[in-house]
Amino acid sequence: MNTITTPPTIINEEITWDTNKTIVSKTDVFGTILYANDIFSEASEYSTLELIGEPHNIIRHPDMPKVTFTLLWQALKNEENFHAIVKNLTKYGKYYWVITDFTIDRDDTGKVTGYTARRKSVPKSVVEKIAPLYKTLLDIEKNKGEKVSEMYFHAYLNEEIGKSYDDFVVDLFEEESKKEKKLQNKAKRIKGLQWFFFSEYES
Ligand SMILES: Cc1cc2nc3c(=O)[nH]c(=O)nc-3n(C[C@H](O)[C@H](O)[C@H](O)COP(=O)(O)O)c2cc1C
Repeated sequence: MNTITTPPTIINEEITWDTNKTIVSKTDVFGTILYANDIFSEASEYSTLELIGEPHNIIRHPDMPKVTFTLLWQALKNEENFHAIVKNLTKYGKYYWVITDFTIDRDDTGKVTGYTARRKSVPKSVVEKIAPLYKTLLDIEKNKGEKVSEMYFHAYLNEEIGKSYDDFVVDLFEEESKKEKKLQNKAKRIKGLQWFFFSEYES
């Protein structure tokens, strides 16, 4: 049941949310939202009540190529965990980029009951690397169809990246997060030294 009928007008503006936190949602096996934490509401601009019972594509951004979701669902159907870098759409047309960790939920007998998604904000440099690739995939999808976009993506991952999409996004996120931390530490050290030198003049 999708009670939100009119898609929002897209605004090219990033939503502000508490990026130290984790956005969590749980779905049934069809991707219907069963649970959303408060940070999900904050980032998506939907209340919990609005989200529960809706299909997860309620926050699908039109800049996302279909192939990423095809890979996601293939992994989930194979009962494999998965990671994806996703641009999401808010209720009022803004966006936010996240890395999502998808896991399988099971009952006591081991039967799959649904899925859990945990999302973290990604460094700007990750977005700068992934957004042009998604644009290429979307252009191919629009002009040549979904299947061609999918085939191009597999060939691209093989030839240029040498790993699966899942490994690619996890490695990219880790590398860029480490770089960002190093820069932050460097900035802290410079600030520390400034304090040291300036205190000399002040005393
Ligand atoms: C647990 C879970 C979380 C999901 N989270 C998102 C999400 O944050 N953004 C999104 O666009 N799709 C998400 N999806 C995928 C959607 O179900 C859907 O496949 C996708 O939005 C593409 O929509 P479409 O199939 O209507 O093209 C999630 C699926 C599951 C199972």
